[in-house]
Amino acid sequence: MKNIILIGFMGTGKTAVAKAIAKSLAMKYVSTDELIEKKEGRTIAEIFSSSGEAYFRMIEKKVVEEISRVPGQVVDTGGGVVLDHDNIENLKKGGTVICLWASPETVYRRTASCRHRPLLNVEDPMRRIRELLEYRTPFYHKADHHIHTDADSIESVARKAEEIANGKKSDSRETK
Ligand code: S3P
Repeated sequence: MKNIILIGFMGTGKTAVAKAIAKSLAMKYVSTDELIEKKEGRTIAEIFSSSGEAYFRMIEKKVVEEISRVPGQVVDTGGGVVLDHDNIENLKKGGTVICLWASPETVYRRTASCRHRPLLNVEDPMRRIRELLEYRTPFYHKADHHIHTDADSIESVARKAEEIANGKKSDSRETK
């Protein structure tokens, strides 16, 4: 089976949804962030603080190239993966790219208790969320399909993504 790739902003539920899809379809779950941490032997926060975001993006790009060559996986990507055009191209070659969306308020609520995201570890996270989301929106629109997650459970979003991947859902190209 072709890969199912989830992209989208931080806090849109990519990790939980990707794990639910992988379980239900008996596919392998892979996370770009986990692979980066394994390759580097340090956390994402440590990579950002010691080597900077540009270095992180370089490793992220290598990881995306590697995973895109392997079929049968549900791929959970980091929220900034879309910023490099080659990443989207590679991910699309390997499978169906689905973008998960959430409002800034939902993102704030879902990410408020986690301190492991360096980009949101700022004085005014809500402002940062709004700015980054606005800047990145055209990049997220490059996905093949889109699902809004504000009002849905993880399971319900996972079922929608599975229908899309199986070609059973026709309205999934609609975005916000
Ligand atoms: C990032 C999102 C994070 C992680 C890194 C950068 C981003 O992943 O890759 O902190 O640029 O949006 P999640 O989207 O899984 O939080």
